[in-house]
Amino acid sequence: MSSNQLEIEFAGIIFKNPFLLSSAPPTMDPRHILRAARLGWGGAVMKTVTEEPTVDPRTRLGVLRRDGKAIGMNNIELLSREPLKKWTDEWIPKIKQEAPEDFIFIASMMSGPEPEGWTSLAETISASGADAIELNVSCPHGSPEKHMGAFIGQNPKLVEVVTKAAKKGTDLPVMVKLTPNVTDIVPIAEAAVRGGADALSAINTVESLIGVDIETATPLPIAYGVDKKEQLSTYGGFCGPAVKPLGLRFVSQIAKALPDIPISGIGGIEEWNGATEYLMVGAKTLQVCTAVMWHGFSIIKDLTEGLAKFMERKGYTTLTDIVGKALPKITTWTALTKLPPLVAHVIEDNCTGCKDCVVACADGGYVSIQMRNNVAVINNEKCDGCGLCYVVCQDNAIKFVHTK
Ligand SMILES: Cc1cc2nc3c(=O)[nH]c(=O)nc-3n(C[C@H](O)[C@H](O)[C@H](O)COP(=O)(O)O)c2cc1C
Repeated sequence: MSSNQLEIEFAGIIFKNPFLLSSAPPTMDPRHILRAARLGWGGAVMKTVTEEPTVDPRTRLGVLRRDGKAIGMNNIELLSREPLKKWTDEWIPKIKQEAPEDFIFIASMMSGPEPEGWTSLAETISASGADAIELNVSCPHGSPEKHMGAFIGQNPKLVEVVTKAAKKGTDLPVMVKLTPNVTDIVPIAEAAVRGGADALSAINTVESLIGVDIETATPLPIAYGVDKKEQLSTYGGFCGPAVKPLGLRFVSQIAKALPDIPISGIGGIEEWNGATEYLMVGAKTLQVCTAVMWHGFSIIKDLTEGLAKFMERKGYTTLTDIVGKALPKITTWTALTKLPPLVAHVIEDNCTGCKDCVVACADGGYVSIQMRNNVAVINNEKCDGCGLCYVVCQDNAIKFVHTK
């Protein structure tokens, strides 16, 4: 990997690599952020501050598992426990002084619907030495009931007003972090740009109810009262690997509608290949939370090395060669129906005879697969090319061919 192979310009700032810690527990204080900075992260967005420090419920994290493996997480955690003054007077100067010089520090802030709060927070943060500011108009729990977070981020007029207000208080680049809890993200992204946003981040967490403990009929995660007598919960924010398809959708929709605004892609990034998917749909930097909470800061090594090796293998010399590369291939559904018909084809050497595709096709498809000599065989006359056999095959034994 050459020293500047992963370098990218984003909102006027040069990042040595596109990988940033997103605003979350791994960026709760300088102890965490400096450890990550020394391990090679390109930058970090600090845990969001607002006028009042947060008091959080306990517990506040829930998990979605599949066959024992965590695939998603939900949280009802709010913002920084520390007052703004602690960040601006002590922590941000310390981080800027002790982190490697090329480590980018982004402050995250939130205020209410009144513009003055945003201007004042931005002014205070600007004087502390941060490199950029991210506006959190997207937290889906706790904040909306105080008319903050996603309450603002779901209303284009408010997004425009608070972005303008924050820009009034700072000369630093301002990023606006958007919520996926909207019908259409594009008008919200456009409003942020009208307000003067220099970049957008997407996505924050997806509002969710992670599950219910059926033994006690209690929604999860459980916040306990005295002696655990009271067991209560609330709606939280879903994140981790299971939300990557949503993040990719929102990032690509913004990138297609607003090709000139830099986007920081967030949601379910765990490995270099997921990160590359985000780059290909238009993200220029990438933010990671859950994967760091589950596996630690050291994943930065695999992220950077994996991406660099991929670039070498594919002949990409800079990250900008990759950014948006997949976007022209996202078209309308109608255009896809005009393409010539396909059928499935079994790669015999890979088929293990498990019959998963036969069962799926019989009950959820077009009844077009049979077993012959312990190998799945497709009936081309019946196969509709839907792709279900590919979905259930765990042996990479299905490909698709044109009928003519
Ligand atoms: C426990 C927890 C706390 C979070 N706190 C914040 C926050 O203070 N500000 C913010 O903008 N996003 C916050 N987030 C959202 C993350 O920054 C990120 O947008 C989201 O988790 C999706 O990324 P991921 O799938 O990599 O986790 C938080 C997420 C988690 C899990």
